[in-house]
Amino acid sequence: MSRLQAEHLYMVFGRRPKDAVRRLQEGADRDELRAEGTTAAVIDASIEVDEGQIFVVMGLSGSGKSTLLRTLNGLLEPTAGTVRFDGEDLTSLSAKDLRKVRSEKISMVFQHFALFPHRSVLENAAYGLEVQGVPRAEREKRAYEALELTGLKGWEKSWPDELSGGMQQRVGLARALATDADLLLMDESFSALDPLIRRDMQDQLLELQKTLKKTIVFITHDLNEAMRLGDKIAVMRDGRIVQIGSAEDILVRPANDYVASFTQDVDRTRVLTAGAIMTCADEVLGTTAPDGKKIATLDDFLAAAPAVVGEDTPIVDLFTPCSVSTVPVAVADKAGKAVGAVRADRLLAALGEDDGGPAAPAPRPATDPAPADRLTKAAAADAKKDAEAPEDNDPEGKVSAGA
Ligand SMILES: Nc1ncnc2c1ncn2[C@@H]1O[C@H](COP(=O)(O)OP(=O)(O)O)[C@@H](O)[C@H]1O
Ligand SMILES: [Mg+2]
Repeated sequence: MSRLQAEHLYMVFGRRPKDAVRRLQEGADRDELRAEGTTAAVIDASIEVDEGQIFVVMGLSGSGKSTLLRTLNGLLEPTAGTVRFDGEDLTSLSAKDLRKVRSEKISMVFQHFALFPHRSVLENAAYGLEVQGVPRAEREKRAYEALELTGLKGWEKSWPDELSGGMQQRVGLARALATDADLLLMDESFSALDPLIRRDMQDQLLELQKTLKKTIVFITHDLNEAMRLGDKIAVMRDGRIVQIGSAEDILVRPANDYVASFTQDVDRTRVLTAGAIMTCADEVLGTTAPDGKKIATLDDFLAAAPAVVGEDTPIVDLFTPCSVSTVPVAVADKAGKAVGAVRADRLLAALGEDDGGPAAPAPRPATDPAPADRLTKAAAADAKKDAEAPEDNDPEGKVSAGA
């Protein structure tokens, strides 16, 4: 199993980092260290990502997301803690062995596509394999396949500047897929794309993941993106992970006011699922359908229901069927057996925030930008910072560990 496990990771920049870790463990405050010129970028982070999972790390700019990602692939040597991938402790490898693991098992996809302008799309997609020393015929074959996977068949001979931003990002993704790496690390990979293209890329990633089943860590400052992609989401604040959970956990059971304030603008109808709000299917037994037929069995219910959906169906899709019948929408398992019922009243209640959901948000002063705005600004700051950080755009990963 290509499982990624990070335990009690710390990344401290500045003087006497180990000392700073000890002090943090003893309860020292991050601000206290900052006053001394030491930055605790990642504090006691532990994550676990299984094969086939997309683990999203989200948080505002400066919360430590990129630093966490770079400790996961060994670009940065953590000040304390361990990273294990595929059973191997990356933190204890020699620089040479680490490079080997990085080139064979780990791929990064950046926000800025990091394509070589004077190489064709095919050569760009084959680049990771070239670094590994894979012979030309083999690497071109695999690059062709990867380009086909990302919807770029026919563009192999083109130059990067002939492609739109979205297509360039697909080349970046194809490059990562061509190497066959089991671990994909994606840092704001879709953040520079227009909203519609971005949605498209999200769909494509979800679709690819169904068959490829990579281990993916995806960084974003965008909560909606996090909720669409993440099997698990970690929310970071000031270097610490403040909550790890499913999209629904984060939305319905935020760990604190900070997380709750993030989620207040989220479209709940796209995150909450039929499975989360359904009641027991047996409840419907004994009721009467609009045509006067008695619903005596679960099969009667399935036949009379205005729609039969899976547990994962977002509730946004349930409003129309709910509005046309007095019989609840039926929720069925994979075998087609009725396992639940979604009543119109539950559907409406789910839109409110008092059914176990986050408390009503405290009113904010008019001058305080909404979280979405703050995130957008954070994104802009991030983009600027990334553009200034050469290692982020270094497809060879030439920056040595600990740099
Ligand atoms: N190489 C570095 N040296 C010193 N401080 C750094 C370095 N890299 C990141 N930081 C600091 O660590 C914190 C987290 O940064 P980063 O991981 O880039 O956050 P994010 O990706 O969430 O925006 C910030 O305060 C940043 O200034
Ligand atoms: Mg970042």
